[in-house]
Amino acid sequence: MYAKLYSATVYGIDGIIVEVEVDIHNGLPAFDVVGLPDSAVRESRERVRSAIKNSGGRFPLQRITTNLAPADLKKEGSGFDLAIALGVMGASGQVPLEHARDLLLLGELALDGTLRPLTGVLPMVIAGRERGIRRVMLPRQNASEARLVEGMEVISVGSLREAVQVLRGEIRPEAPEPEPGEEEEHTTDDFADVQGQSHVKRALEVAAAGMHNLLMIGPPGSGKTMLARRIPSILPEMTDRESLEVTKIFSIAGLFGGRGKLITRRPFRSPHHTISQAGLIGGGNIPKPGEVSLAHRGVLFLDEMPEFSKSALEVLRQPLEDREVTISRARAVFTYPAEFMLVGSMNPCPCS
Ligand SMILES: Nc1ncnc2c1ncn2[C@@H]1O[C@H](COP(=O)(O)OP(=O)(O)OP(=O)(O)O)[C@@H](O)[C@H]1O
Ligand SMILES: [Mg+2]
Repeated sequence: MYAKLYSATVYGIDGIIVEVEVDIHNGLPAFDVVGLPDSAVRESRERVRSAIKNSGGRFPLQRITTNLAPADLKKEGSGFDLAIALGVMGASGQVPLEHARDLLLLGELALDGTLRPLTGVLPMVIAGRERGIRRVMLPRQNASEARLVEGMEVISVGSLREAVQVLRGEIRPEAPEPEPGEEEEHTTDDFADVQGQSHVKRALEVAAAGMHNLLMIGPPGSGKTMLARRIPSILPEMTDRESLEVTKIFSIAGLFGGRGKLITRRPFRSPHHTISQAGLIGGGNIPKPGEVSLAHRGVLFLDEMPEFSKSALEVLRQPLEDREVTISRARAVFTYPAEFMLVGSMNPCPCS
């Protein structure tokens, strides 16, 4: 009794399709996940077991082997839960899987079977489309993000029970409700607010036109912070390709929210000076883009620049030169784009 389903993971800023194979055979009851899973993926066994039981299903008391392919890629996160659960139910004959052959399955399960939203849905759905998969089933909270990908039929479900009902044909996937025409996140910071200061304004305009880096030195109250915050309002518009890149990065960082459209305003990131190296560059246990990548195609503003630790300023060297960040781990090398305009501000004397 064997089942194969599609799920996906994120690698750098791109999605990668992962085939989830489930095989059930006779033997001592066991549930193994193979194919380089990290601890979050291994823990999915416990979530899947409880979620199936609490969704009215039967957890087979047999030997269950789950393989995540390609086997040489480290699998991270909890997004495979839905595919593994449906694979177990499919291989044990509880759910028909004929309609799941061209279906991408994404979602983390809670113990009661409800689905939790994921980060990085946009790149994963794009990867699915490139692979020729035409339908995706995912948690309701991620539906508007998945609909940004043209040519994908989005089936949003709230729980494992609902996913099973859709596959059995007992309920029809709900029609997408019209998105509330959400306003572009507009700010009230407008460059036109700046009084006088024509020389600084000119410098800022030249820098903004060419995305050149900029350092403002001036006494307290001279308007450095105020001017920097208004730079995004004079930056050129993003192209569609840039919008997509920026939206992918925000999606992976979990900062995209439920917006129903791509980010079209250039990002402005202003991290506090106590920020760590990893926060600035990216990384962590489950690698996430840092501030330099969140500022990709936009502005990274370091207010009171000398307050930043020396090591934090030093790590900016490589991204400023290469326009990307490479994070090496034992099993993987991630590259995040980091093409930003660096704006710094400082007082002429540390005593002020
Ligand atoms: N040219 C200007 N036009 C309009 N408002 C200004 C101008 N310059 C300064 N201000 C106002 O003065 C206040 C102080 O400015 P801001 O905080 O930007 O100064 P700063 O140079 O960052 O000072 P600090 O070095 O203390 O951080 C702000 O409320 C700002 O709106
Ligand atoms: Mg200031």
